[in-house]
Amino acid sequence: MNKKVGVIGLGFHLPKKVLTNFDLEKMIDTSDEWIQTRTGIRERRIAEPGTGASDLGSEAAKKALRDAKLKPEQIDLIIVATLSPDMPFPSTACFIQDKIGAGKAACFDVSAACAGFVYGLAVAQQFIASGMYRYVLVVGAEVLSPLIDWKDRSTCVLFGDGAGAAVLGPVKKGGILSFHMGSDGACAELLCMPGGGSRHPTSPETVHQGMHFLKMKGNEIFKLAVRAMSGCAVQAIKKAKISPDAIDCVIPHQANLRIIQATIEKLGVPMEKVYVNIDRYGNMSSASSAIALCEAVEEKKIRTGSKVLMVAFGSGLAWGACVMEWA
Ligand code: UT7
Repeated sequence: MNKKVGVIGLGFHLPKKVLTNFDLEKMIDTSDEWIQTRTGIRERRIAEPGTGASDLGSEAAKKALRDAKLKPEQIDLIIVATLSPDMPFPSTACFIQDKIGAGKAACFDVSAACAGFVYGLAVAQQFIASGMYRYVLVVGAEVLSPLIDWKDRSTCVLFGDGAGAAVLGPVKKGGILSFHMGSDGACAELLCMPGGGSRHPTSPETVHQGMHFLKMKGNEIFKLAVRAMSGCAVQAIKKAKISPDAIDCVIPHQANLRIIQATIEKLGVPMEKVYVNIDRYGNMSSASSAIALCEAVEEKKIRTGSKVLMVAFGSGLAWGACVMEWA
């Protein structure tokens, strides 16, 4: 690495509307008890109809810029991680650029689903370390609620809407120590939205078959998630040349509390060091780890010098982990 690169500003934004497990009990055949014991979720946030990922993402981005004490024009690049873009094209990053007034920035989205924020950090780090750019804004923004079949109890209880953002820039001490990423395209269809792309363009038939909704084979993914999250976390820790004991705070993707617990057990890190917000927000895909990082810093669970492990997994399959020393 040529230069030390770290997170220099953070912000997040959530829709106001709260949908509790008790609300869901009135909509489908489920129970608060099933949802809590199987997933750890109590409630999630739901955006107003017509909200785009860029609406939540731009609010998070503005807060991150304020936190970094930067003006929008100082941002060189905007990377948005999302599986619920405003539109299939152009990129949601372009919409966010316009909303925050970052006219100088180049913009693109990364498609790595729930691991997208970690992938975005990795891409941002390369641009800054190489000297090509100084300040990069990475946003994880999701409005998943319109992608959900609210009659499918196996998926609709799991997801929520939200956005988190980080500004990355050069730092004098600490910063990003390592990344490890991987993918398994052979399992691509375990979690996907089959309709609306080039293979199955939207038609009355795709809509009739509900192909515009998220489809997930949850229990097939569960074991893969634990194996991939723990495996890539171990690799990232090794690359950072530290021992697992040195980790002060773990920021995992928040898909299921049981996946987090099983992953952490494999790593041998105590659960007290793990930041969990799935109870309040459910799974917000790329926004989950972004918001968890913001909240952990806000609650002073991460301070200057803390060693932080971020680890995420999702559709693709795609997974990634990052170790940072908080700058
Ligand atoms: O974000 C990144 C990727 N996503 C993940 O990593 C998610 C991974 N998977 C999971 O988190 C879990 O597999 C789920 C939470 C999705 C499901 O939990 P599970 O323990 O694997 O349950 P299951 O799918 O094996 O279903 C068990 C039972 C079934 O009933 P039978 O067939 O045993 O009678 C389901 O029909 O639970 C039933 N069920 C429900 N019952 C009440 C499924 N959804 C619900 C529900 N309420 N919402």
